[in-house]
Amino acid sequence: MKISFKTDSSEQTEKFGEALSRYLEAGTVITLDGDLGAGKTCLTRGIARGLGAVTPVASPTFTIVNEYEGGRLMLYHFDTYRLSGEDDFYASGLDEYFQKDGCCVIEWGEVIEGALPEETMKMKISGNGDERLFDVVEEGSVGAENIIRAATEAGCTIL
Ligand SMILES: Nc1ncnc2c1ncn2[C@@H]1O[C@H](COP(=O)(O)OP(=O)(O)OP(=O)(O)O)[C@@H](O)[C@H]1O
Ligand SMILES: [Mg+2]
Repeated sequence: MKISFKTDSSEQTEKFGEALSRYLEAGTVITLDGDLGAGKTCLTRGIARGLGAVTPVASPTFTIVNEYEGGRLMLYHFDTYRLSGEDDFYASGLDEYFQKDGCCVIEWGEVIEGALPEETMKMKISGNGDERLFDVVEEGSVGAENIIRAATEAGCTIL
């Protein structure tokens, strides 16, 4: 199922993430693709806040994955930008996170496309200025109707 919507500020993107967090469960995998500065980390920050994670989200700079605890679910925040591909991902044992008791949010998920579960929720972010377009392909447990619900709650423009 494909869903598209727009946000008009970083606050709104974060708010969408916060609203979306309610529909996540252990094993949910979300990929975020889009240029540098698209808003991938901004959205993840909202998800973490919604889950109730204790530490604010920062970009995983020295590690590929950061773990956020203290919330309703563990949040595993990946940035796979520096991986060469899925072989690299498997070699580092990172696919084990998909079996863990938490939700995985993966910036630059396209880098490890072949390693992603079939049920992955894939989001592409584009745009400039303060406006961002989100194109989502949802094949997982979150459900298209809940993505629309979260976007509506955050005041996003559904396309
Ligand atoms: N509608 C919007 N949604 C999200 N971010 C926005 C929006 N409008 C402007 N911005 C700005 O875009 C930037 C997004 O930065 P962010 O770190 O989230 O991007 P990123 O996609 O994670 O980049 P990187 O690939 O470097 O990790 C921030 O400076 C934010 O304030
Ligand atoms: Mg980022």
